[in-house]
Amino acid sequence: MMVILSRPLNKHRAAPAPSGVVILSRIEPVRRPLVVGIGGTTRPASSTERALGFALRGAEESGARTRLFGGAFLYSLPHYAPETRELTAAQRELIEAVRAADALVIATPGYHGGISGLVKNALDTLEELRDDERPYLDGRAVGSIVTAYGWQAAGTVLTSLRSIVHALRGWPTPFGAAVNTLETRFETAQTCSDPKVVDQLRTVGQQASDFALAFGAQRADAWHDVGRDVVLAQR
Ligand SMILES: Cc1cc2nc3c(=O)[nH]c(=O)nc-3n(C[C@H](O)[C@H](O)[C@H](O)COP(=O)(O)O)c2cc1C
Repeated sequence: MMVILSRPLNKHRAAPAPSGVVILSRIEPVRRPLVVGIGGTTRPASSTERALGFALRGAEESGARTRLFGGAFLYSLPHYAPETRELTAAQRELIEAVRAADALVIATPGYHGGISGLVKNALDTLEELRDDERPYLDGRAVGSIVTAYGWQAAGTVLTSLRSIVHALRGWPTPFGAAVNTLETRFETAQTCSDPKVVDQLRTVGQQASDFALAFGAQRADAWHDVGRDVVLAQR
């Protein structure tokens, strides 16, 4: 008897099983995309990290699983040195999470007109993904969030962060959030003084998740078109 793990369900194309063949399932497994968040500052009440939390909750509302690498974690990363071949456990954890990610959200404060060194160091660490089949952030949507004490840095740093995402071969989401922390307060990790900002942050997470779902579905279709079934056992 031959046992086949069925290709994804497609009513119009599903072929009858050949004789002697058992189809285990014609239901396409629903795989929730993984959205990885990277961002925050060393401050315990970091508004950047809290803003990132709102975005990841937006991604979860769109069906994603999420993982957040916040300021304390980023602070535990050594300064990235490409010539050092031995990686720390924290570096490996970040690299493996990004390798597995279907989309990302990156949140940085504006520091002196640029992204913070803490966040840049985490992104530099992704150099370790250079030789991957999907190098760096290839094929992944990336949402961008910037907090700053004023609109000028918020706008320019958002542009700068998106340029970095392009350099890493990521796909910046159409919507990015710029938060002016002179006007908007995150009193706790779950609260924000401005509901419009909450909507904007959620939108960033939702767009990242939605892109991951659409891109994943498109890949499943491509796989279907090849028309391959996976033969598990034959006797
Ligand atoms: C070293 C440093 C540099 C900063 N540079 C700028 C700046 O150039 N423009 C600006 O608007 N805010 C600047 N800020 C303010 C931060 O961007 C702002 O307070 C941010 O929301 C801090 O995020 P956090 O609450 O997550 O720590 C700076 C803050 C620090 C500590």
